[in-house]
Amino acid sequence: QTATYAQQQGWHLYLVGGGVRDLLLTDNHTTLNLQDIDLVVDGFHRATTPEAGVKLAEALQAIYPQSRLSIHGQFQTAALLWHKDPQLGSLWLDIATARTEFYPYPAANPEVESSSIRQDLYRRDFTINALAVRLTQPHQGELLDFFGGVEDVRSHFIRVLHPNSFIEDPTRIYRAVRFAVRLNFDIETQTREYIDYAVNSGVFERVSLEKNSIPALTTRLKAELTYILQAQYWQPALKLLQEVGALRCLHRNCQITPNLWWQIRCLDRWLKYYHADSYNPSVSSWLLRLEIILSSFPEGVIVANNLELPKESIQRLSHLSENNEKIKHYLPTCQNISEKVEFLANYQSITLLLIAVKNSKPIRRTIWNYLMHWSKVKSPLDGKDLQKLGYKPSKLYKEILNKVLALYLDGKIKNQR
Ligand code: CTP
Repeated sequence: QTATYAQQQGWHLYLVGGGVRDLLLTDNHTTLNLQDIDLVVDGFHRATTPEAGVKLAEALQAIYPQSRLSIHGQFQTAALLWHKDPQLGSLWLDIATARTEFYPYPAANPEVESSSIRQDLYRRDFTINALAVRLTQPHQGELLDFFGGVEDVRSHFIRVLHPNSFIEDPTRIYRAVRFAVRLNFDIETQTREYIDYAVNSGVFERVSLEKNSIPALTTRLKAELTYILQAQYWQPALKLLQEVGALRCLHRNCQITPNLWWQIRCLDRWLKYYHADSYNPSVSSWLLRLEIILSSFPEGVIVANNLELPKESIQRLSHLSENNEKIKHYLPTCQNISEKVEFLANYQSITLLLIAVKNSKPIRRTIWNYLMHWSKVKSPLDGKDLQKLGYKPSKLYKEILNKVLALYLDGKIKNQR
């Protein structure tokens, strides 16, 4: 229906971007579940008006009233969202008018102008994402490959279309890493050199999140970072990000040392147990991965603020080093379990997880025991037992029960039940 409507208006309609790449990568035996479809409209006999994509999306929404339409005027794009189907998930359809982009300065948000499909494809990140399939007549189904994308899909290469690509949009470095790891492709040698050039020329210093950060870039960067940290392949992706120097966009001091690697992995192992435990609330693993990275350099809290991480994360990070010092200093002086439990109960369990992996084995073990065992131990007596024993209900109950719990934790009394 979309293609028919476009055809009636005298427009060409194309499937572009990741959808075409994934179609080429899918063998005949696998069903491709596209959840994010990118379409581009351009003029057939004459140039389209910039609103063509938006008009097409509005027409589609009238046909499918159950979809939700949102329009981004600045970029002449519209998106339609079909809500979650329990089996198929949700479907995003992005419709844009073919456009050329101008970057007023490196790493800025591009200014756009309507243009032909060829120019639209040329502004894209990698050859494998710069392919299009024509959905309208004539030549319906034709694959447009102006820049050698098909060959790169076949030979498993991530290759940019022009040398300035990473200077104009440094988040593409993150995307190169993401596609390389996810698709098991190599970053082509020259493209790798362009990355080195962009990193060494200080593109990240200019857009660094530490000061004068450019909001639009921060948003894109956060999206890419989140994507990577949430992905199943986050470990090799993080390694490659470190290798190409892309973590410097968070801060010039941000780097994953062997010790930080160890902490990140250890946290991950702990989180698996932690999540498997029905007592414990679920926390996002990707966010804690990011928190442990940000906690490894003093300016991490500023970066967390710039990235607009959730309030609790920023709070946690702001006090992490101080709390770590307190725990390191006080915990080893606690003589028995009840003392340790009383002290550690002052901290949120997530804070304790982050602190544990930063410390040596004895502290780690104590925190582990607290989180997984001691914090769940219940007093062998409760209020009803005290009443049965003849104590009148009073404020003292809490004190007595805490005392009983402490004795029980320290193995000085047994549970008689
Ligand atoms: N794109 C780009 N530069 C960026 C982001 C996106 O050129 N910084 C282009 C690419 O052509 C990409 C398309 O916009 O294919 C859609 O972007 P996105 O949905 O983020 O990527 P996909 O290629 O669809 O990848 P994925 O399968 O991960 O969604």
